[in-house]
Amino acid sequence: MTIQFPKDFLWGTATAAHQVEGNNNHSDWWDWEKIPGKIKHGDVSGIACDHWGRFDEDLALMKALGANTYRLSVEWAKIEPKQGVWDEAAIAHYAEVVRKLLASGIEPMITLHHFTSPRWWADKGYWAWEGTAAAFGGYAKLVFERIAPNVRIFTTVNEPLVHLGAGYIMGIMPPEKKGFEHLQAPLLGMLRAHAAAYRALHECASAHGKKIEVGMAHHLRIFDPKHTWNPVDQLVSKIMDAAFNTSVPNALETGRIRVKVPGLLTIDEDIPGLANTQDYFGLNYYSRDLVTLGWKDGSLQPLPTVKKGALVNDLGWELYPEGFLRVLRRVAKHYPGKPIYVTENGLADAVDSRRANFIESHVSAMETAIGEGVPVKAYCHWSLLDNFEWIEGFEPRFGLVEIDYATLARKPRPSFQVYRDLIGRHRNDR
Ligand code: FCB
Repeated sequence: MTIQFPKDFLWGTATAAHQVEGNNNHSDWWDWEKIPGKIKHGDVSGIACDHWGRFDEDLALMKALGANTYRLSVEWAKIEPKQGVWDEAAIAHYAEVVRKLLASGIEPMITLHHFTSPRWWADKGYWAWEGTAAAFGGYAKLVFERIAPNVRIFTTVNEPLVHLGAGYIMGIMPPEKKGFEHLQAPLLGMLRAHAAAYRALHECASAHGKKIEVGMAHHLRIFDPKHTWNPVDQLVSKIMDAAFNTSVPNALETGRIRVKVPGLLTIDEDIPGLANTQDYFGLNYYSRDLVTLGWKDGSLQPLPTVKKGALVNDLGWELYPEGFLRVLRRVAKHYPGKPIYVTENGLADAVDSRRANFIESHVSAMETAIGEGVPVKAYCHWSLLDNFEWIEGFEPRFGLVEIDYATLARKPRPSFQVYRDLIGRHRNDR
């Protein structure tokens, strides 16, 4: 049975500024990625895909795909390269990008923070700095007024716990702190900053007589016990799930952040102004982990593993479309009535042998969910282009469009046509 997708359903792709634009030279990553040993093969983002300079070409690709949405991030480090100094050229660039998307019938979804940060703000202490909520709120206001007064969907922060987990627990991204004890201060600061940006965006929008939706993009994973019969694995997968998947989204509803990893971490705080600050549920879904308990860095910790024999992507992540259905059902149950925007879903697949099937199986999971009444309203495939995949460098190929990094030539992969045909079959808004 084929389900009718809602008439206003958004089909498109997602990217993030640092991964595609190039020349993010006022950001924390610009310096950090040059330190030997940080990025695979010693890659640095450099000009990346020159999405900044070749936006028109990339817009033509989105049109060829038949997309009616594009999730992009604006780069705070480019917009405010020094504290209180706004870069007019960068503002004009993004305003033009938004104008061109809207003129092409492609609705922009704008993310304010996607892993990279202005160097000046990093030097002050990132999210933990006491001026962060005011600074981030001011940046949000500027983005609305100067860049995106006609944009409807805003994401304050991309994958809060991936970003903070990598930077403050695992120590594999800036600022390279290692240990659970480092998480609390930046997490609380980030939630305060989110609340400030939520308010700032809504205030600006109502002053302009506009209705907008603001939320975060949450990375939800499936955590199943490695040994299903083992009560310890069952417990550990529950702990991981609560800490990673539900703590932040719940906090945006209730105003109270609670994260508990026994023996390692307890956070339980009320954040004034945080309750009811997500108008939609932004969902990034990629994979599942089978969890067990094991020794790491001298302590017993939850350890993620990959199912033996599973079909995986080029980075070894299990391809698990059933998990997408499970996650969609769960979000609909826990956050009833909230529209769900799939802000990311994709795979690294250099030879493009699994992408078409990945897209079809994940869209079919979405279709099943919609048939059950789950309010999914958008699907953004990660990613339009191959790009700079953080510590993995340029090697993983997430693009529907292949980039030749020697010439920056774009070449749609066969799966691009598959996704295009699928959008053609399902789009009902024209
Ligand atoms: C997500 C990130 C995105 C990209 C994909 C592969 O966690 O949000 O920037 O790296 O993974």
